[in-house]
Amino acid sequence: MNTNSNKQSVFRHPLGGIGGALFIAGLILFIILVLIDITAADENPYRSLVTFIFAPAISISGFLLFWLSTWMQIKKARKKGERYQFNFTFDNTDPHYMRNIGIFLGILFVLVILTIFSGTKAYEATDSVTFCGETCHEVMEPQYVTYQNSAHARVHCVECHIGPGATFFVKSKVDGMRQLYATAVNSFSRPIKTPVHNLRPAQETCEGCHWPQKFYGEKMITNTYYKSDEENSPWTIKMLVKIGGGNPRTGKLEGIHWHMLGPEIKYVAEDYQRQEINWVQVVKDDGDTLIYRMPDTDEPEFENPETDLRRFDCMDCHNRPSHSFNPPAKLINLALSTRNISPELPSVREKGLEILNAEYETKDQAIQTIAADFNAFYDEEYPEVAKGKSTEIKQAIEELQTIYQQNFFPEMKTDYRARTNNLSHFVNDGCFRCHNGEMENQHGEKLTNDCTTCHLIVAQGPSEDVEQLESNINGIEFKHPEDIDGAWMEYKCTECHTPESGY
Ligand code: HEC
Ligand code: HEC
Ligand code: HEC
Ligand code: HEC
Ligand code: HEC
Ligand code: HEC
Repeated sequence: MNTNSNKQSVFRHPLGGIGGALFIAGLILFIILVLIDITAADENPYRSLVTFIFAPAISISGFLLFWLSTWMQIKKARKKGERYQFNFTFDNTDPHYMRNIGIFLGILFVLVILTIFSGTKAYEATDSVTFCGETCHEVMEPQYVTYQNSAHARVHCVECHIGPGATFFVKSKVDGMRQLYATAVNSFSRPIKTPVHNLRPAQETCEGCHWPQKFYGEKMITNTYYKSDEENSPWTIKMLVKIGGGNPRTGKLEGIHWHMLGPEIKYVAEDYQRQEINWVQVVKDDGDTLIYRMPDTDEPEFENPETDLRRFDCMDCHNRPSHSFNPPAKLINLALSTRNISPELPSVREKGLEILNAEYETKDQAIQTIAADFNAFYDEEYPEVAKGKSTEIKQAIEELQTIYQQNFFPEMKTDYRARTNNLSHFVNDGCFRCHNGEMENQHGEKLTNDCTTCHLIVAQGPSEDVEQLESNINGIEFKHPEDIDGAWMEYKCTECHTPESGY
């Protein structure tokens, strides 16, 4: 090699040195942060921002600086007619060179420490709630608040929303950045779109904690309802819900969880929210296939049976395991039965419903209006009660405000009216999307909607006290709390129990 002193290495330049040091520092920071991010239990788009934008940005700017300095020197050398070379020879005989190397290593050391320090600081900051700020809070508040009131309040968001595996990890990062951008430029939709089609199959999330084969047997539930009359008359229904599963005693699959364990069920939905189902396929273990269809519907055409056909899983029933926006009628019934709202306040159910269901612009406005309207109602309609039961009135107002804060999010236009819950058939069609008494298979058999298929009513009647009710452990025929002439046998419950009526 020519050691002509005219000829110099283009890499030996302070700017190139700083560039190189930045590049290495950014890279080290990136590796550390990725490791933290992979092992972190929760999901945080801001943290991804530091990892996947901030750290690489340091590296890239270092890289660019390095090549800028190289390019400048080539130009300079060319101008002077000097020669230049691209070698990295380590020349430990040259004290000047050795000094530069020392300075380079020193700068590198300081930079690495500095970037790692600032990087991890930025990282910690993104974890703190305050950083999230007003906008982000507003966006996620409905889901966060309902989550905290759910059975899954101690399950991390990522366990359901991302689950294990590298592709979903990367996908969630990209999604997180997109959401961050949407938040920053305020372009997100209100309410936030439900990720019906983007959730992972339940086998990879829910089933990591809930073993589908587990047998749940029957679950007894007791609900007391109150009518919208002046007396807030009670009506109690006690029933056994046949959750089922694989029964270890008989070895048989039974009850509601039968769907998950036996034959493979697939269906085609007409709409994005999967509320309109016209075609259901059951492939039995012996290969027999049953196809249930709504009358007068055509055979659906599949472009791609893999994706057009939805495999029925946990989330087709439990679609709100963690974010349940409860309807006000249900919440008021509960508050009346626990006496958080006193049933002795005349027409309190009707009035409470009306107030909760009204349109409000903001939560603050709602909180104030609830108190004002409620007080005004008793002052005007029942002045005696307003005087005699002021404690009950105050308590009822507090309860209504709490109900509102936990289930209504006017800023995000999110409440029970914006979300469907498929677990029952009372508030949304849920089970009756298929079990509607109309679907029929190729042998002319109807898909059952007999009231005893899924639960047995074991007690019911006009009292809060279960002892007072007509009861039979083997089941009794449903009696509708209001005399509606058997209309409940003709129509879906949701046709009368609408959002306007509080459901
Ligand atoms: C037990 C599982 C589970 C957990 C834990 C969970 N989610 Fe969800 N989340 C869901 C499901 C399922 C949906 C889809 C609901 C549907 O399809 O109707 C959803 C929907 C959402 C939506 C879309 C809006 C909506 O209401 O449909 C947001 C936003 C969301 N979750 C945020 C969060 C956040 C933030 C956390 C943690 C604080 C969290 N989730 C924890 C299961 C979960
Ligand atoms: C990380 C573990 C974990 C994951 C993942 C998970 N769950 Fe759960 N689930 C729990 C725990 C813990 C409870 C509370 C158990 C208790 O209170 O006895 C629970 C309770 C439940 C309950 C009964 C409580 C209720 O609300 O009535 C249902 C139903 C349920 N989970 C469904 C689901 C569904 C559907 C999914 C998938 C979207 C899911 N879970 C994902 C851990 C998990
Ligand atoms: C066909 C609808 C349907 C499907 C599919 C379904 N479930 Fe359920 N599940 C129910 C109903 C209905 C209940 C009883 C509701 C209640 O707790 O009030 C229930 C109850 C539960 C419970 C609570 C049991 C208890 O003792 O309180 C858990 C946990 C659960 N399901 C998990 C799952 C998991 C996990 C899957 C998927 C493997 C799944 N379910 C699939 C309808 C379904
Ligand atoms: C996508 C359509 C669909 C939905 C939604 C649906 N089911 Fe089913 N269900 C079926 C089909 C199909 C069968 C099986 C019919 C057969 O055996 O031919 C069935 C059978 C059943 C059975 C009888 C199991 C047995 O022991 O034979 C029960 C119980 C049941 N469903 C409960 C429910 C409940 C509760 C819900 C709502 C939480 C629900 N289903 C929602 C399609 C559905
Ligand atoms: C395909 C299964 C299925 C059929 C058929 C069915 N139900 Fe239900 N029903 C459910 C489930 C699931 C729930 C929710 C249980 C829970 O909250 O745990 C429910 C809830 C109810 C409730 C309580 C409502 C509430 O949430 O307060 C009543 C009342 C009821 N059913 C009556 C009926 C009557 C009457 C019929 C017959 C016309 C019927 N059901 C048919 C599955 C079914
Ligand atoms: C033809 C209309 C109609 C149909 C269909 C109908 N209901 Fe009702 N239901 C009513 C009316 C009206 C009331 C009284 C409401 C009130 O006083 O606030 C009522 C009240 C109730 C109540 C008392 C609870 C409350 O909070 O208001 C229950 C429980 C109930 N219905 C269950 C059902 C079930 C389950 C079905 C479906 C199997 C059904 N209903 C179908 C009209 C109907």
